[in-house]
Amino acid sequence: MENMKNLALPKQNEAITIAVVQEKGGVGKTTTAATVSAGLAALGYDVAGIDTDMQGHFISTLRVFTSAGYPPDLLFDVVSRRRPVHEALTPIPPEKITLEIPSDMTPTGPPGRLDILSGYLDTTLIPGWIRAHNNNWEALREVIAPLHQTHDFIIIDTPPTKSEMTPAIIAASDYALIPTLPEALSVRQTSDTLESIANLSKYGDIRLLGIIPTMVRDGVLLHEESLDELTTAFGESVWNEAYTSLSIIWGEASAVGMSVMQYAPGHKAACQAWRIVHKVLESVGVKA
Ligand SMILES: Nc1ncnc2c1ncn2[C@@H]1O[C@H](COP(=O)(O)OP(=O)(O)OP(=O)(O)O)[C@@H](O)[C@H]1O
Ligand SMILES: [Mg+2]
Repeated sequence: MENMKNLALPKQNEAITIAVVQEKGGVGKTTTAATVSAGLAALGYDVAGIDTDMQGHFISTLRVFTSAGYPPDLLFDVVSRRRPVHEALTPIPPEKITLEIPSDMTPTGPPGRLDILSGYLDTTLIPGWIRAHNNNWEALREVIAPLHQTHDFIIIDTPPTKSEMTPAIIAASDYALIPTLPEALSVRQTSDTLESIANLSKYGDIRLLGIIPTMVRDGVLLHEESLDELTTAFGESVWNEAYTSLSIIWGEASAVGMSVMQYAPGHKAACQAWRIVHKVLESVGVKA
């Protein structure tokens, strides 16, 4: 089956590229990127994950490392054209994307692939490289272009800090997905993130896919008020039905290199993760 898949004809359509962005740190960007990537792959899509954060957490959340025990440090090599993108992908073991699919979702077929282009410390060289190459904001978009022939979705995890890489990420992406904590400053932080994206819109035509409330304390007044404020400010863009509750299970799952859907399939967190995957598909116009 796997061999047959590898022999498949190149994809007909462009991959849908989603950047997970938010200028505040620790809001669940990487968790969202890894969860959505694993869920889409489990549903039969071929997914390429790209980690543009020098922390290298995207792949380490799934506990896949080099033999030296670090995240593969290949993004800079790809952006600087030292290595073609397909040679820099790390395949995620199939058991991590062979998940129990909820009965209300229909897989397109057997699990697809999840391949991650990971960066690590050398990722810090990319902003300087872009500057030194005539502010080549198109660099990332150009070097990942071959993935459109082989993958259905490209999910980009991003750092909380802004740099010359930020316009390059915007130029490479169709959609922005914004996780946000429901707390006093969340409207402001989300506005700032949206404003930064708008300021960079000359670099690429990126649309807001959705705002995901993360680590929500169900039943806590402050959180409920913050969710209301978010909805008042951003309307239907706020995914009130597809959010995550605060739960230690998310940390436990990533500590053993699994998505919550693999680690605790019956847990509320897994249901919430699938709802987010479903909402992603619905929002990009794919029937789940
Ligand atoms: N719903 C949740 N409940 C509790 N903990 C969570 C939840 N979602 C994510 N976490 C945990 O919160 C921490 C921060 O999440 P994550 O690394 O995804 O944030 P981030 O936005 O990518 O951070 P950074 O800005 O540093 O890249 C992680 O330890 C993760 O396991
Ligand atoms: Mg992160």
